[in-house]
Amino acid sequence: MQRVRYGMVGGGEGAFIGAVHRMAARLDDAWELVCGAFSSTAERSQRSGDALGLPPTRVYDDYQAMMKRESMLPAGERMQVVVIVTPNRSHLPIAREALERGFHVLSDKPATASLAECRELAAALKRRSLRYGLTHPYSAYPMIREARARVAHGDLGAVRKVLVEYTQGWLADPIEQDGQKQAAWRVDPALAGAGGAMGDIGVHAFQLAEFVSGREVRQLAADLYRTVPGRMLDDDATVLLRFDGGASGVLIASQIFVGDENNLRLRIVGAKAQLDWQQLEPNSLWLKSGNGPAQLLRTGHPGTGPESKASRRVPSGHPEGYIEAFGNLYREFALSLQQSTPTNVPGIGAALRGMAFVETAVASSAAGVVWQVMPDLEY
Ligand SMILES: NC(=O)c1ccc[n+]([C@@H]2O[C@H](COP(=O)([O-])OP(=O)(O)OC[C@H]3O[C@@H](n4cnc5c(N)ncnc54)[C@H](O)[C@@H]3O)[C@@H](O)[C@H]2O)c1
Repeated sequence: MQRVRYGMVGGGEGAFIGAVHRMAARLDDAWELVCGAFSSTAERSQRSGDALGLPPTRVYDDYQAMMKRESMLPAGERMQVVVIVTPNRSHLPIAREALERGFHVLSDKPATASLAECRELAAALKRRSLRYGLTHPYSAYPMIREARARVAHGDLGAVRKVLVEYTQGWLADPIEQDGQKQAAWRVDPALAGAGGAMGDIGVHAFQLAEFVSGREVRQLAADLYRTVPGRMLDDDATVLLRFDGGASGVLIASQIFVGDENNLRLRIVGAKAQLDWQQLEPNSLWLKSGNGPAQLLRTGHPGTGPESKASRRVPSGHPEGYIEAFGNLYREFALSLQQSTPTNVPGIGAALRGMAFVETAVASSAAGVVWQVMPDLEY
């Protein structure tokens, strides 16, 4: 199997998620970084590419130059996929340019800065036979795949309640005012888009809730809060959800939970049993029912199904986490390119739903925490 050649936009020196993508892409030897425009300045892009061992000719000053020059290289040499790891506002222009030049796109979330932008992206994709993937890594943890399969097989009975909490403490203080790079753009609507905590972590929680429950949110009522004085975007959100099929839910996305790290927890409650998963203990999944002892399901241990087994790499008891989950998305996206197989990698549908979720929640909160219907989306 030939390695997939990719170019990266963003992820330069000092950046967070680009390095995670590069590690994940290496895990299964299925990808090769061949070029990049790593930073918003040409000098930093060159320095970053140099540190990654790329030849200077394949390190570009900006993404426009990268797309143009790469598209002129021989087919067996040029990049095939553009990986987007820049702040949210630039996702659409970079993805649009990539698609126009004939490259597949693997983008970090949120897909774009607004729903209108995401609709534009969906339209651009529809005109071409190219792939689009969105990196929601939590959906690729083995025990999340296990949970999804169990819900689909009816192990819980009819789903009644979905409770998803995503709480972090790193924005409890106005660190953006001290120049903290990752905070600075996340609290700025010109760079982050319409959602603060909602766009940053709310979209992960939302995608996870829909992915595992197998149900779509139809209506929501949101209370978005700006806790730290001076912020223009929400840093704390509580959202009530109504799913198709009748289940109700609560989603909390907050970055002012002082003392919390990356505390993502999903509980799905059915008529017969419930599932409980926490990202800080990702190889464990609790299955509880009312008529027997609770069961602790563990990654790779007897009692788990093929869905979770296919999403791990090492024998049970060897912790796997965030980077491996990202690696699962890379592995599955590569397979989908080579074999045109259906994939569990979130695509344009998840992209549209995530942006619709943020916009509907912003509208609901602005109207005084009023129930709103999610818009109709075509994908
Ligand atoms: N999936 C996840 O778990 C996850 C986690 C963190 C961040 N993210 C997403 O990844 C993206 C980046 O977040 P981050 O925390 O790594 O940000 P960051 O600020 O650490 O890094 C952004 C990088 O993009 C570069 N950049 C900005 N504009 C550019 C341009 N026009 N061309 C080339 N490079 C450019 C910056 O120089 C920097 O190197 C965001 O959309 C964020 O929401 C996703």
